[in-house]
Amino acid sequence: MADQQNLPEGTVHNILEQETLKWVFVGGKGGVGKTTCSSILSILLATVRDSVLIISTDPAHNLSDAFQQRFTKSPTLVNGFTNLYAMEVDPTVEHEDVGTSEGMDGLVSELAGAIPGIDEAMSFAEMLKLVQTMDYSVIVFDTAPTGHTLRLLQFPSILEKGLGKMMSLKNKFGGLFSQMTRMFGMDDDYNEDAVLGKLEGMKDVIEQVNKQFKDPDMTTFVCVCIPEFLSLYETERLVQELTKFEIDSHNIVINQVLFDDEVVESKLLKARMKMQQKYIDQFYMLYDDFNITKLPLLPQEVTGVEALKGFSSHFLTPYQPLSNRDQVEWLERRVSELKDQLKEAEEELNTLKKGKQKV
Ligand SMILES: Nc1ncnc2c1ncn2[C@@H]1O[C@H](COP(=O)(O)OP(=O)(O)O)[C@@H](O)[C@H]1O
Ligand SMILES: [Mg+2]
Repeated sequence: MADQQNLPEGTVHNILEQETLKWVFVGGKGGVGKTTCSSILSILLATVRDSVLIISTDPAHNLSDAFQQRFTKSPTLVNGFTNLYAMEVDPTVEHEDVGTSEGMDGLVSELAGAIPGIDEAMSFAEMLKLVQTMDYSVIVFDTAPTGHTLRLLQFPSILEKGLGKMMSLKNKFGGLFSQMTRMFGMDDDYNEDAVLGKLEGMKDVIEQVNKQFKDPDMTTFVCVCIPEFLSLYETERLVQELTKFEIDSHNIVINQVLFDDEVVESKLLKARMKMQQKYIDQFYMLYDDFNITKLPLLPQEVTGVEALKGFSSHFLTPYQPLSNRDQVEWLERRVSELKDQLKEAEEELNTLKKGKQKV
């Protein structure tokens, strides 16, 4: 761990201090701790910003579990806070709410068939449009596992394609196209011009937001992972894709780290710790210009505001395992634990001996 000396501090202070930040994405493989980390980041940001919104775009919503409060697709104030709001959106079904008319749905699903992802892109644009008007100081995204997140970043080009397709259809069939849309029972609100207008409006929002996403002053992506091969591999893929999309990323959170806090006698734990260290070393080697924050694996889950707040201290001060904190204290603990174990074993032996004598 001597290699940490020349590195940026192992905390998320850089994110809290970057006052221009407007969008903070939190992503990584499923189950590594994205929801936990994004919730804590939003809690920490709420201490330094006027207003914070956390949005979950993962269909397997668990902001409600983390905060132990029900959230919906509208921002709701988180209990115990005055400036932290949360909402859960489902990118895959949202478009059904966009137009209630048969015709609109028909066209959208028609488009969805022609251009995979257009429905998701449209609902994402709708959501961003809404959020843009709400004026939060910073918005934290608890994203779906890696694949989904990367798709989300491709939305602008997908929308562009959708628009192109509509245009070409319109040009090709001219009046026939509008006759057809009328024939299929679309009223004037949902004719092809309305749909085109809608797409165009969304494209504007998405283009504007996309510009902000590519601005490192306004947007950053926090990669959450665990010290295991698959997660390291996935993180590398994610970081490369982010570079491709020109999205800034300079924070990695390594969650579920086993620290040498207790006297570890278990062979299994010892082996896991050794394995983790191997991958932690690789993370430091690969991402030497990142802020790497290590979080301990707790014996229990991190749910409820109090637990999240408690765990948040590890985001601000690098975790110090007990064995590093004080060698004497650590050895004293070890000696006392060994004494206890010896006593227990002696008692067990005595009981066994007594039992044998009786027989
Ligand atoms: N460091 C940790 N120690 C113990 N439990 C954790 C830790 N980090 C996360 N958890 C728990 O693991 C589960 C999955 O975490 P979560 O943040 O929901 O992951 P994701 O959003 O990536 O799927 C949750 O029950 C959470 O409370
Ligand atoms: Mg989650």
